[in-house]
Amino acid sequence: MRLLAALLLFAAAAVAASSSSSAAAELPEFREAPAFRNGAGCAGAPTIHIAMTLDGTYLRGSLAGVLSVLRHAACPESIAFHFVASSASPARRLARLRAALAAAFPTLPATVHRFDARLVRGKISSSVRRALDQPLNYARIYLADILPRSVPRVLYLDSDLLVVDDVARLWATDLGPQAALAAPEYCNANFTLYFTDAFWRHPAYSSVFANRTRAPCYFNTGVMVIDLDRWRAGGYTAKLEYWMDVQKQEARIYELGSLPPFLLVFAGDVKAVQHRWNQHGLGGDNVAGQCRELHPGPVSLLHWSGKGKPWLRLDAGRPCPLDALWAPYDLLRRRGARDDLLAAVA
Ligand SMILES: *[C@@H]1O[C@H](CO)[C@@H](O)[C@H](O)[C@H]1NC(C)=O
Ligand SMILES: *[C@@H]1O[C@H](CO)[C@@H](O)[C@H](O)[C@H]1NC(C)=O
Repeated sequence: MRLLAALLLFAAAAVAASSSSSAAAELPEFREAPAFRNGAGCAGAPTIHIAMTLDGTYLRGSLAGVLSVLRHAACPESIAFHFVASSASPARRLARLRAALAAAFPTLPATVHRFDARLVRGKISSSVRRALDQPLNYARIYLADILPRSVPRVLYLDSDLLVVDDVARLWATDLGPQAALAAPEYCNANFTLYFTDAFWRHPAYSSVFANRTRAPCYFNTGVMVIDLDRWRAGGYTAKLEYWMDVQKQEARIYELGSLPPFLLVFAGDVKAVQHRWNQHGLGGDNVAGQCRELHPGPVSLLHWSGKGKPWLRLDAGRPCPLDALWAPYDLLRRRGARDDLLAAVA
């Protein structure tokens, strides 16, 4: 009898151990989003290609972002999503990510592409914030290789944002005769501060901005319209990698993650987009993580860039005022919770 009890106890402990170790890899459950249909006038609408990363950490943010895009699009069925997942994720993990995506959006035209994390592992220099050092954060540099040649243009979106306008307006950005990249530019930000003194002191580095179309300005890489044909022709992936190698092997020329290489290669040659398409910084700053307010002017896209994320602050019961705008797009399934918030966006 005692032996049986001991065996049962052992079996129970083994089950508990195995369920807690699989719980670590488990993803939360998500609710199904409403289906969004094309309105009248969508016949012949161009396919809008949107690329986002897909990983466990930002999954909740990605799904909210997708819902926001669909909710505000006049032709939601004309949008093709390209999710980029790290090749370092084991197959089981990837299957779970796909399942979460399918649970939330069963009919979404979506492709999951693998990003070879080894491409950047040796190139990542540690930054002020560990989340910025994840290889998947660098996947945007490789979109021209990851996406099929049949995709001529892509809209890259971070996983901590909401689109609250018809994304077709952003997609239709005219890139002019030669720009490979369009994004809102912020010329009031002090550009000097994105690079170290070592960078500015070194003429071979700092002269990189000498021949740009305009004065270089900061832009946020969380929202970019990219002409993939021009990108490939211009060899921009190699140019970005060049600066990552400089940072890693020659001199510490910047402190942030994947942003400075983009500034080095594109600042001054970016096709400027209205600021309404990236109201960034809502996550707060990288050090104190304080609440931020919107920049003045109209809003088409809210971006919780920075340290704080709305889902974490909401869960912790300490949301910033603007996090209330994110909550209705949260597809996380809560036991016993009503779906009335979601009904508000449907
Ligand atoms: C930008 O920052 C640099 C370095 O701190 C400073 O020397 C410069 O005066 C600043 N420029 C403006 C316009 O504030
Ligand atoms: C800028 O353009 C001039 C004239 O075309 C060229 O001589 C110079 O090497 C260029 N500088 C850089 C840093 O590309």
